[in-house]
Amino acid sequence: MVAVLHHSLAETSAACQNIRHQGLSIGFVPTMGALHDGHGSLIARAASENDVVVVSDFVNPLQFGDANDLARYPRDLDGDVALAGRAGATIVCAPQVSELYPTWPAPPATMVTVGPLAEIFEGASRPGHFDGVATVVTKLHNAVTPTRVYYGEKDFQQLAVIRQITADLWNPVEIIGCTTLREKDGLAMSSRNVRLSPAARIAARGLSKALSEAGRMFRHNRAVTGEALSAHMARTVLAGGDLVTLDYAVVVDASTFVEVSGPVDLSTARCLITAIVGGVRLLDNADLSFQLPDETSTSP
Ligand code: PAF
Repeated sequence: MVAVLHHSLAETSAACQNIRHQGLSIGFVPTMGALHDGHGSLIARAASENDVVVVSDFVNPLQFGDANDLARYPRDLDGDVALAGRAGATIVCAPQVSELYPTWPAPPATMVTVGPLAEIFEGASRPGHFDGVATVVTKLHNAVTPTRVYYGEKDFQQLAVIRQITADLWNPVEIIGCTTLREKDGLAMSSRNVRLSPAARIAARGLSKALSEAGRMFRHNRAVTGEALSAHMARTVLAGGDLVTLDYAVVVDASTFVEVSGPVDLSTARCLITAIVGGVRLLDNADLSFQLPDETSTSP
C-alpha cells in the first residue's frame, strides 16, 4: 500500500471528518518520525483493527527541554512514508511547526498540564516534557478524531500520562498500548538508537539485560524486594562502563508509579530503566516475567 502524504494537519483533519462521515473507523499512530519496525508493528496492528490508518510524523519541539537534543533528533520523511505505507498506513501527516504552534518559539497560550504523574521519573529529569507531549497529543487527537490510538509500551510513563489526559479531558478514543519490539540482542527499538556509536550500542545492551535479570531474580526468589531488584538492575546497567550514566532503575506499581519497597507483586510490578548511553537517552521497561531469549535455557 502507498500512503498519501499530507503536509498540513488541517488537510488530514478534513480528510478524517470525511472518513468518519462514511462510518469508517480510524486507527491513529502518532510518531515523531524516523520510523523503525517498532512503529511498523503499531501501524500493522492499527491496520488490522481499523478501516483507515493515519500516522502523524511530527518532531514536537514543545516536548524537548534541550535544544541540542531537538536538533539531533533523527529525521527521514521519505523513509517514513515508505515504511508506513508498507505497514498499512493510509495517510501520513507531517505538519509544520508553524501550523501547530503559530507563536513558536513562544509556547502556545493553552497548554495541557498533567499533574503528579508527569513530575516523576521522566518528568523529573525532563521538566515540562510531559506537558509538551500532552499538549501535542490533545491537538492531534482532536484533529484526527481517531477511533483507536496506538502507543508503544516502551514509553511506559508516557502511555500512562496519555491514558490520564484522555480520561480527564473526556477524549472519546480507545488508547491501545503495544508491546515493545526488540533487536536480536534485546535492545528496545527506538528512533534514537541510530545515534549510538558502535561502543555505545554494545553498552546499551545492559538495559534489557538488567530487566531480564530482574525477572530471573524474581523467579529464583519470590520474596525478593523491590530495593534488591532495583540495586541489581542499576549494577547491571552500569557494568556497561564509562559510556553509561544511569538516570533511574526502579520497580514501581504499574498503575500508580509508586516505587515498590519490600516484596514485589508479579501482577502489578513494572521495572523502569533510563540511562544515557554515549550521550543518547535510552528508556526501557518490562514486567517481571520478561526474559531475553538467550536466557531461557539458564532459567529455572
Ligand atoms: O512517543 C512519541 O513519539 C511522542 O512522544 C509522541 C507521542 C508522538 C508525541 O509527540
